[in-house]
Amino acid sequence: MLPLLCCGEEAATIAFCRLAGRADGDPAQRAEAAALYMIEAEERTHDALLRQLCILLPQPADSAVLRAAARRFHLQLSARDQTLHLARIAAVDSAVCTILSRLTSPHAALAQDPALAQLFHRIRRDEARHVAVTRTIVRERGSGDRLRRSGAIARHALAALLGLGGAAFDRLCVDPDALIRDVKRLPGGLL
Ligand SMILES: [Fe+2]
Ligand SMILES: [Fe+2]
Repeated sequence: MLPLLCCGEEAATIAFCRLAGRADGDPAQRAEAAALYMIEAEERTHDALLRQLCILLPQPADSAVLRAAARRFHLQLSARDQTLHLARIAAVDSAVCTILSRLTSPHAALAQDPALAQLFHRIRRDEARHVAVTRTIVRERGSGDRLRRSGAIARHALAALLGLGGAAFDRLCVDPDALIRDVKRLPGGLL
């Protein structure tokens, strides 16, 4: 799963840096920008932590294929419309929380490794905060069917991406079908 997760952190770092940089001199926008820069800093830390983990572990044979697919997914998330982009990020980050919860559940293989479980718990906690910040910004700008539809499409695309790593989930004692089903479903009221 690491090639997929690493690519996500790298893409998130770039996205939040761009989104924060678009704020002008308005005080409300400056507060938003500060919150987005804080998320960027956390994404950068996640990226560094996961990269270190990648160096320590053997590379999967399909690593390049997974990274390329993940890169395409993240490129498609970006949008000229900042609110739309944030809505998609909120939809995807909330799904990432679900993925990390399953990976660290007491029944999953990773639960046997306290250091790894702690790392993924930490990232999950940060991602939950990112969801809270981004969805608040989106809602302040006015939610709507267009944003919800776009968030739902992003979750479908993420589910398809996860499908590429189905066998890895089995090995990690995570039910891939249940996970993919839950990732596909945008929680009501998120956007
Ligand atoms: Fe992250
Ligand atoms: Fe994130």
